[in-house]
Amino acid sequence: MKIGVLGSGIVGRVLASAFLNEGHQVMLGTRNISKEEVLKWKNENAGSLLGSFQETAQYGEIIVLAVSGLAVEDAISLAGNEHFFEKIVIDATNPIAAVPPDNGVLKFFTTLEDSLMERIQKILPDAKIVKAFNSVGNAFMYKPKFAAGKPTMFICGNDDKAKKTVTDILTAFGWETEDMGRVEAARAIEPLCILWCIPGFIRNQWGHAFKLLKM
Ligand SMILES: NC(=O)c1ccc[n+]([C@@H]2O[C@H](COP(=O)([O-])OP(=O)(O)OC[C@H]3O[C@@H](n4cnc5c(N)ncnc54)[C@H](OP(=O)(O)O)[C@@H]3O)[C@@H](O)[C@H]2O)c1
Repeated sequence: MKIGVLGSGIVGRVLASAFLNEGHQVMLGTRNISKEEVLKWKNENAGSLLGSFQETAQYGEIIVLAVSGLAVEDAISLAGNEHFFEKIVIDATNPIAAVPPDNGVLKFFTTLEDSLMERIQKILPDAKIVKAFNSVGNAFMYKPKFAAGKPTMFICGNDDKAKKTVTDILTAFGWETEDMGRVEAARAIEPLCILWCIPGFIRNQWGHAFKLLKM
């Protein structure tokens, strides 16, 4: 499929490379296609495309949102809301506030009765948004290797078919997937990012992922 990845930070680049590796056609979207790390990524990823946010959203049959949480609304308006119409949108963002963590605990600009994904869904009511990839570090997003087996990716979203497509992608990427229901579940999935980061901030341990153990 044609995948449009919005955001050229480490998450955007890692996920764009992963989709290319799985045989998809990929455009990486950025406000500045001549940035050093973007050109380096392009050289290292044969067959990849670079574009503006608008070109990338237009190109993608599936769109990946991989921009700073604080910049999501700006990025969507640069991309053009109409280019998300009825498309699957994989939302990897977290609503991290621009303030330092408290003893390793990140601060969010959302509350427990709200989530960034719900805000995005309100801006893009016809988009089939699926939360995924937000609860693990970028080093483990593609083909994670843990002695204890496959980790669990928690997803949510209002469209069952879109969640099935994203589950298939996650399976190819080496994950077990747990569907946590509709968009409101992002109120619980987004804060997993806070939990995931604590061992990193307080003990410099960044090599872990969540797994749901079931009977
Ligand atoms: N880092 C991780 O391991 C990790 C893990 C899970 C989830 N996440 C989430 O994934 C998202 C991306 O994280 P990241 O670490 O790759 O990078 P980031 O520093 O959080 O975001 C970088 C991206 O945001 C875009 N951006 C920044 N300001 C903008 C603005 N004013 N308007 C439009 N776009 C703007 C930039 O676009 P340009 O390409 O134009 O520069 C850049 O691509 C975040 O929401 C983060 O919380 C990160």
